[in-house]
Amino acid sequence: MSSPSRIGNLLLLGQGSDLASERGVSCTGELPKASDPDLVARARAARDILGSEAMILGHHYQRDEVIQFADLRGDSFKLAQAAAERSDSKYIFFCGVHFMAESADILTSPSQRVILPDLAAGCSMADMASANQVSDAWKVMQELGIASKTIPVTYMNSTAAIKSFTGENGGTICTSSNAERAMRWAFEKGEKVFFLPDQHLGRNTAVLKLGLKLEDCVLWNPWKPRGGLSDQEIKSARVILWRGHCSVHGRFSVANVTEVRDRIPGVKVLVHPECQHEVVKGADVVGSTEMIIKTVKEAPSGSSWAVGTELNLVKRLAAENPDKQVYFLDKTVCYCSTMNRIDLPHLVWALESVVAGKVVNEIKVDERVAHHARVALERMLALP
Ligand code: 13P
Ligand code: SF4
Repeated sequence: MSSPSRIGNLLLLGQGSDLASERGVSCTGELPKASDPDLVARARAARDILGSEAMILGHHYQRDEVIQFADLRGDSFKLAQAAAERSDSKYIFFCGVHFMAESADILTSPSQRVILPDLAAGCSMADMASANQVSDAWKVMQELGIASKTIPVTYMNSTAAIKSFTGENGGTICTSSNAERAMRWAFEKGEKVFFLPDQHLGRNTAVLKLGLKLEDCVLWNPWKPRGGLSDQEIKSARVILWRGHCSVHGRFSVANVTEVRDRIPGVKVLVHPECQHEVVKGADVVGSTEMIIKTVKEAPSGSSWAVGTELNLVKRLAAENPDKQVYFLDKTVCYCSTMNRIDLPHLVWALESVVAGKVVNEIKVDERVAHHARVALERMLALP
């Protein structure tokens, strides 16, 4: 275990890659040892050989040891845009999670190869909506005669199959940076929105951005017959929210907000919209990872921020803004364990494999699924 570090006055356990060996090897070759002192040099050398043929995309939740190699850092919207625009990059190393790499594959040309350095880098929220469950829910809406006036709006954090369902049924994808625009677009096209899979982003957008009432939203529980709702509840809802959530952001509570405000006079609370409704309501600022970074960067020197999002990003914010006090909103630390799967040994392995002429851990979405998923993603990219 690496040595502890601090953010503001919070003691944190280190995120050293010496844990990598314990996480196991989800790759089909010889994974370099995390203790190899030459890992950084090896990554640089392989990156240099690949030159402009390669692009390394890094989500803001990635570890420092990985993000230092990113040609572009971003939130999920910015990374999807980059993948769609960079037709000259033959190899896209996606340092993020599986749904992001799938979206990159869908948005790139067939000759471009998208590589996820560790295939175990999934997203628990995306796994909360399966294609069968969503199709069952849609059948109920069709039977009740409301499907034709219901527009699906699907969060980027979803499998390609759910994106495909969305495109096929006239809907759009959104990210945390454009959920409001996506929902307004959907209400121009229909009377109801079917928002999946993140109930919190859906509720926060509907109520806090569009001014709908909490009672306008119902929660579809995929584990209960007919979503656990009465026909009347489904028919009268304006927004049907899928019962999914992020296990990282779901941890932040109103008690955390109260506690930090009591402890640090003048602190501003800044959270991601995947947090629970009451937490977002109690915060000073809410926004995507990109927006969180911008807010702290542009804040006055000496200001204090309690940030409710993934810990790698909060630690980096603290390091990159030494003139401000940056705290993690919760006292118990929490990384996104799947984002953390991508470490330097996996990145080196993926880069060196390509240098040796072998594309590993390629993410390839079946064209039957990709076709409609692309329609939904392109609708998002074209949102005003
Ligand atoms: P962003 O779209 O803000 O990058 O968030 C993605 C994500 O997975 C948050 O948990
Ligand atoms: Fe998924 Fe949450 Fe991790 Fe984002 S932070 S990738 S939503 S589990």
